[in-house]
Amino acid sequence: MEQFVWRVLPLLTFLISFLVFFYLHDSYRAQLHPLVKLTQNKCSLLHHRHFWITSKRIVTPQGIISGSVEIKEGKIISVTEGYGKQGNSKHEEVIDYGDAVVMPGLIDVHVHLDEPGRTAWEGFDTGTRAAAAGGVTTIVDMPLNNHPTTVSKETLKLKVSVIGPLEAAENRIYVDVGFWGGLIPENALNKSILEGLLSAGVLGLKVIISKLVQYHAKLLRGISDFPMTTIHHIKEGLSVLAKYRRPLYVHSEIQQHFKKHLELNDKDGPRTYLTYLHSRPPSWEEAAIKELVGVTKDTRTGGPLEGAHVHVAHLSDSSASLDLIKEAKSRGDSISVETCPHYLAFSSEEIPNGDTRFKCSPPIRDAYNREKLWKAVLFDLPVTWSYGKKHGLTLEHLSLLWSKKPATFAGIESKGSIAVGNHADIVVWKPEVEFELNEHYPVFLKHPSLSAYMGRRLSGKVLETFVRGNLVFKKGKHAPAACGVPILAK
Ligand SMILES: *[C@@H]1O[C@H](CO)[C@@H](O)[C@H](O)[C@H]1NC(C)=O
Repeated sequence: MEQFVWRVLPLLTFLISFLVFFYLHDSYRAQLHPLVKLTQNKCSLLHHRHFWITSKRIVTPQGIISGSVEIKEGKIISVTEGYGKQGNSKHEEVIDYGDAVVMPGLIDVHVHLDEPGRTAWEGFDTGTRAAAAGGVTTIVDMPLNNHPTTVSKETLKLKVSVIGPLEAAENRIYVDVGFWGGLIPENALNKSILEGLLSAGVLGLKVIISKLVQYHAKLLRGISDFPMTTIHHIKEGLSVLAKYRRPLYVHSEIQQHFKKHLELNDKDGPRTYLTYLHSRPPSWEEAAIKELVGVTKDTRTGGPLEGAHVHVAHLSDSSASLDLIKEAKSRGDSISVETCPHYLAFSSEEIPNGDTRFKCSPPIRDAYNREKLWKAVLFDLPVTWSYGKKHGLTLEHLSLLWSKKPATFAGIESKGSIAVGNHADIVVWKPEVEFELNEHYPVFLKHPSLSAYMGRRLSGKVLETFVRGNLVFKKGKHAPAACGVPILAK
């Protein structure tokens, strides 16, 4: 009995942490931009529009099956058990993947493609080709780092227009792309701007919380065209979001004691990673989340902000901050949280001084913090898998965390699982294949060899990626035409 408890308890804790981790909300709905007819043979490396894929390991919502998935005109029309049995199909219409894993394509809801305006950093073309090569079939683009920032219906329209003419199969996105809008003091206090932005189709809003309005956030973030916002503006924004039933994405750090930070720089020197780490302590995250959970109580059923939802972006602190979120959630607040592969893969002890590849905010904390984060979660595909295997990550967990939950959170109901009626967004990969990450790996398109993961040994190789039935990536090559579509909420 004792042994049983010992075995089951950790499992339960593990499952509960999952539930906490990505809150499920089924009332958000986003629809795809009307699908347009494209020259199919350029969109896909496969000519069939009706075909079967078969494998011994297909990850479905009901578990892993050996069987086949039937795909017609971009949708999944049947999922059947029994490997090698494909009804009336002709031989050439069946792709046999054998032991390779067939899984829903990954959905990355936190991506900065930086277009228009900062294409020296990233871009629609390179960013979405990298996504396809990493098994990601949908991304949701952030409203900042591009210029102008996406804070009104006009700037959203500008961003969508940069993608290019969809009808001509000459656009620039290889996977489907949704958009977050930005909540800033100006639109928070002018509902007509905010409603215009939401009506134009952003899936929700992103905000950077602060004690004071900071129009010149340059010191903290390197750019100054996305002002920080106080809890007062956030409340205003949430009242509009409640009506649209869309989420608010919050960069949760509130600056404390800035003077100390400068003193600290003097002592340890600005090039040590410790100086950077100490300049943004966990208390910054905790202070922000404290403010947020003071407001999320109104998102409970029957509360004045019912329908709105708060999502804490890239949590690094696995102690007090995480506890505050768990508490709020158990009280019934509509709140969720995410962390990132780099917080799970690295720890501050191993980061060389002056190595800016590891610079992110909040910072990467120590190994103890990392282990606690792994306990709470259990995440681009090879990185998550390589580091997650030893923490007991299974293919089902991976699929839930990387596809189903993000789809639900962003309101993209037609994606995120291998189920009849869904878009045929699928990644085929081999979890057991090990490789050393080098600059030839096909995700380093904009800045070859510039990655914190360079030289690491990873396992899990992406073989092929399908987006709405189009084979967009196969063995290191992309389809000739980019046929992703913008996802706009209705
Ligand atoms: C809100 O913004 C709109 C569009 O920019 C502007 O026409 C209107 O005057 C603004 N309203 C207020 C109260 O500032």
